Amino acid sequence: MKRVLVTGAAGFIGSAFVRLLLDKRPDLRITSLDVLTGAAGLLANLDGLGAASHRLVQGDVCNRALLDSLLADEDIDTIVHFAAESHVDRSIDGPGAFVRTNVQGTWTLLDAARQRWLRSGHDGAGCRFHQVSTDEVFGDRQHIGDATEDSPFRPRSPYAASKAAADHLVRSYQHTYGLPVSITFACNNLGPRQHPEKLVPLVILRALAGQTLPLYGDGTAVRRWIHVDDHCRAVLAVLDAGQAGRAYAVGPLAGTSNLDLVQRLCARLDQIRPAAAPHADLIRFVKDRPGHDQVYRTSADRLRTELGWRPRLDLDQALDLTLAWYLDHPDWIRKATARPAWSQWLSTWYGDERD
Ligand code: TYD
Repeated sequence: MKRVLVTGAAGFIGSAFVRLLLDKRPDLRITSLDVLTGAAGLLANLDGLGAASHRLVQGDVCNRALLDSLLADEDIDTIVHFAAESHVDRSIDGPGAFVRTNVQGTWTLLDAARQRWLRSGHDGAGCRFHQVSTDEVFGDRQHIGDATEDSPFRPRSPYAASKAAADHLVRSYQHTYGLPVSITFACNNLGPRQHPEKLVPLVILRALAGQTLPLYGDGTAVRRWIHVDDHCRAVLAVLDAGQAGRAYAVGPLAGTSNLDLVQRLCARLDQIRPAAAPHADLIRFVKDRPGHDQVYRTSADRLRTELGWRPRLDLDQALDLTLAWYLDHPDWIRKATARPAWSQWLSTWYGDERD
């Protein structure tokens, strides 16, 4: 890995990955690609990441001509593909954007990589296409136990279906053309710079504003959570030592109900802002998400045993760091929430129920 293209680099996880690379691999040449007008790609997420070895390109993963020239001009040998529409609620509201970015975008990128890396006289040695995916492709695990990387895909939301379709394409390019690929299936992430439409920042910001905290259904849905930096370290471990053609699930050993997660956040907020305690009084059970998956559960044994990865932060540490970051970054919050696309979506989706 010498010359890396990171797609979705201005998103929550992509920008954390660029930060990790600049810190741990200063010798790499990094090209960041982001459309910057999508749901969560925000230029401010790359603040402070200017470096001679880092170039930012504004562009769409569906733009084949742009991809062809980037791969050739930068002589890219590694693609880490974060670019995706990722919010389940948005995918219910408007699935088309998910099919376009997640399916067509991944295919366009795969095909550009195939053309560049497997051109005549080249067999793709030293190259890698890494697909960043999600445990949601394995569907609701409430009655069937942990998924492994080899479990059949059973996606149930348009978002999960679009990621599963993209992952199938990734695997097909390895199998059919010999493109060197790898995949990570991550659990839910939390940490700095996560878009305020996602549960953790939504709860933090609404609680600080004294607004109600909406929990879908009865709050018993279970997710596994890791800090975004632990996820990024896992992706780097796979790039460094993971086998081409292999997939790795990323996550902790246990899950947490949404209610438990929100109560933990409320308890921390009580300590920081005792005058507004108890923040848990703001919790409201609201109409459930259509088709809401109750449990995601994927075993990360392979990553632990083969690559020695462990999350460095437990959930409480991750929550503390995340809360501290949001409290310290009002400017970022202003930028992230001021964007018209976001405000418009929020009002149509949430309606009056939230306020
Ligand atoms: P989310 O962050 O949207 O991630 P995902 O659905 O991809 O796991 O939501 C995490 C969980 O929190 C999920 O079970 C849905 C639930 N949730 C709420 O209860 N209220 C909310 O306002 C949001 C955004 C999510």
